[in-house]
Amino acid sequence: MSQNQFDSKGRLQHLLTLAGLPRETLTGLLDRSQQFHVQPGIRARNYDLLVGATVVNLFFEPSTRTRTSFELAAQRLGAHVITLDMAFSSTTKGESLLDTLYTLEAMNADLFVTRHKEPGVPETLAQHTLPHVHIINAGEAHVSHPTQGLLDALTIHQHKKNFEKLSVAIVGDIRHSRVARSAVQALTVLGTHDIRFAGPAELLPDDMSGEKFTNMDKALEDADVVMMLRIQKERMQAGLIPDEREYARRYGLNSSRLRLAKPDVLVMHPGPMNRGVEITSEVADGPHSAIREQVTNGVAVRMAVMATLMGK
Ligand code: CP
Repeated sequence: MSQNQFDSKGRLQHLLTLAGLPRETLTGLLDRSQQFHVQPGIRARNYDLLVGATVVNLFFEPSTRTRTSFELAAQRLGAHVITLDMAFSSTTKGESLLDTLYTLEAMNADLFVTRHKEPGVPETLAQHTLPHVHIINAGEAHVSHPTQGLLDALTIHQHKKNFEKLSVAIVGDIRHSRVARSAVQALTVLGTHDIRFAGPAELLPDDMSGEKFTNMDKALEDADVVMMLRIQKERMQAGLIPDEREYARRYGLNSSRLRLAKPDVLVMHPGPMNRGVEITSEVADGPHSAIREQVTNGVAVRMAVMATLMGK
């Protein structure tokens, strides 16, 4: 749990982690996200909540969904948005991350969105930033991805309503997954008890409580939600998993496996997906899939988080 998320008056100043976030804060963010939610095909509404504010995206790892949705969210709230191309930033010339922060603060940046492969970066930025500036963690190593946890919770809420009675199976490379950690933190705060982890023994977590399965089929039995995860080769030693064909045979979600879950099961995946490895196209694009809804919810959640941090 971060000590640095709340200011001296108890207001949410930064979003660094969902661990230890009070239930009312989390549900408040979800309720607010719902107000910003717009179905694809409908023209998104623009707000003036962040007019005059400057949002800077600092992504030191690749991203499609998170980076774009933070940009869109900030623009739809009326902010100026800068996304630095970190491959061409002065960090490649040896400038420290803190000097980058101070430099951009000197240009009146108000809110930083950061993704980094090293644990602890969002917390360090929060400790060193000016008192009026806000930090949002958009992906921290294998540790945390709080806005993903929020959008996952929002997506489940839109379909299932009662978190307490849910059975949620999380399948794949859980050990290296910041998505899984933030999802479990959100679900735990919201009252879900039955959280199952399935995957090869080497990829099961040792820092999260929940039932663990190396047999995926057993984990899927009567599940309400199945959350599939990508193999994160960038965070593991070579040779830790069997080849992709064998992995797909044992841990890939296909239509026949999905029948082990409840008839109204919700299928989720944070993206990016490896079709044919952890999930077949038939399931990813099928009637149970909420994968694109997760993406839509990502914009709404990021609007809610930025507006809340900025006191709007
Ligand atoms: N889910 C997620 O974080 O996707 P990106 O890596 O594309 O941002």
